[in-house]
Amino acid sequence: MVLVLGIESSCDETAAALVEAGADGHRRILAQIIASQEAEHAPYGGVVPEIAARAHAERLTPIIDKVLREAGKSLDDCDAIAATAGPGLIGGVMVGLVTAKALAMASDRPLLAINHLEGHALSPRLADPALEFPYALLLVSGGHCQILRVDGVGRYRRCATTIDDALGEAFDKTAKILGLGYPGGPAVEKLAATGDPFAVPLPRPLVGSGEPHFSFAGLKSAVMRAAESGAYAAEDIAASFQQAAVECLVDRLKIALADMGEVSALVVAGGVAANRTIRAALEQLASAHGLSFTAPPLMLCTDNAAMIAWAGIERLALGIGGDPLDISARPRWPL
Ligand code: KG4
Ligand code: ZN
Repeated sequence: MVLVLGIESSCDETAAALVEAGADGHRRILAQIIASQEAEHAPYGGVVPEIAARAHAERLTPIIDKVLREAGKSLDDCDAIAATAGPGLIGGVMVGLVTAKALAMASDRPLLAINHLEGHALSPRLADPALEFPYALLLVSGGHCQILRVDGVGRYRRCATTIDDALGEAFDKTAKILGLGYPGGPAVEKLAATGDPFAVPLPRPLVGSGEPHFSFAGLKSAVMRAAESGAYAAEDIAASFQQAAVECLVDRLKIALADMGEVSALVVAGGVAANRTIRAALEQLASAHGLSFTAPPLMLCTDNAAMIAWAGIERLALGIGGDPLDISARPRWPL
């Protein structure tokens, strides 16, 4: 049995988790805490890096303590300490990584410096032991919008990325324009459920182009113009925006899937994967391509520490050992 403590602090969630795994495919989250900083950032309509870093510094140690107590474990029971080392807001990443270094040093356990995107990319395997490599991954969050072919741990081929905004950003901006507050994704989804998805003519940027990349800046501006025109109800704007987003995702994925070679499954991860309309459209697309479809449970879609611990477990299973204690936090770190 392997037990790993995971730490996540790259954006506005302070999180810790203990995950165990056995050779027989057994995997279990023994305890996890995700403390959201939503209330601190809400007045500013987005994450303020300085406030985030301070909040992580205040909360992280008590959260780790509580996770260990809840699971009835101590640091000595852990096989490694895994922490997000990037990409993300540098102040927050440093808080988590420095804490992990101190714990690793004090307990004489290896430090695993995890790429946050790798955490998202591998998280579906924590929930679904049957999910085998290679799979196609749509990673959609507030900071990222990518299509990857995942061939194995540490083996990722990026097939598409966004040329401007991430989709989560576009959801958050739409929420701001419609006065729905922060974070925007869940609020836009809720309002969209009551609107007409074809009421507002909105663009589908890059749809039809041969390269599978994304672009959402033009869609965001069109939402702004539609709202300013005063001609449409907020729920119709929300529903039409979500519809345009879904069509962009499906069209871009079709191009990427045609190009990436054989895969076993279509997998979606990242915060936007919590969106039920998007999940349903992707499930349909997967079935049309004869692929199985996997999305992690909602709690594992948005930022969390279980996915960081799990990425650490995947690395340990391959015999990839610890990172040096002088490893740096990386604000930018492509997969
Ligand atoms: O993965 P995540 O927690 O953090 C990043 O690494 O970015 O993703 C957060 C993003 C935010 O932009 C949020 O608005 C979006 O995911 N999101 C959603 C939904 N829930 C969260 N977007 C659309 N529909 C949702 N239900
Ligand atoms: Zn994330």
